[in-house]
Amino acid sequence: MERHKALEIVKKQLTEHRYQHTLGVMETAIELARKYGVDEKKAELAAIFHDYAKFRPKEEMKQIILEQNMPNDLLSYNMELWHAPVGAYLVQREVGIQDEEVLNAIRYHTSGRANMTALEKVVYVADYIEPGRIFPGVEEVRELARHDLDEALIQALKNTIQFLMKKNQPIYPDTFYTYNAMVMNRKGGIET
Ligand SMILES: [Fe+2]
Ligand SMILES: [Fe+2]
Repeated sequence: MERHKALEIVKKQLTEHRYQHTLGVMETAIELARKYGVDEKKAELAAIFHDYAKFRPKEEMKQIILEQNMPNDLLSYNMELWHAPVGAYLVQREVGIQDEEVLNAIRYHTSGRANMTALEKVVYVADYIEPGRIFPGVEEVRELARHDLDEALIQALKNTIQFLMKKNQPIYPDTFYTYNAMVMNRKGGIET
């Protein structure tokens, strides 16, 4: 799908603020894909559609999670997580994107998952560091992303987990699984 066509479709689903964020994620994902040898077109497409379901009504998302047999435990956690798997489903159904790698990058862009593909990592990190993001710790992840995608992802996960803990929020298990898998597979192994 052409970029302008994809952007035209997604723009209708988003607020202006979220659309600007999407443009930032797209540019960043393309840069990271180029740097780390990931398919740039897939990174571009996944980035454009990653927040497609962000503004769907809560009830619609809940219904899709139940009807499509998505992990039920999602419903016990922050609804902020829901738009990612629901987005992958809707992008396939409504936009007609069938590429499983692209759909998975959308599906796991919020929770992560153990053993993420390079494309999934690119979209996750791009979502975290795009130029519009301003929060404590983002600059450190930006810097890491210039040299090491895995270290950038680990730092983003650490920040996210710590942020949620400080707010006494639960942490979705996939986020821990992602962190654990990344740290255990880290170059040089784990320190004992
Ligand atoms: Fe998102
Ligand atoms: Fe996003």
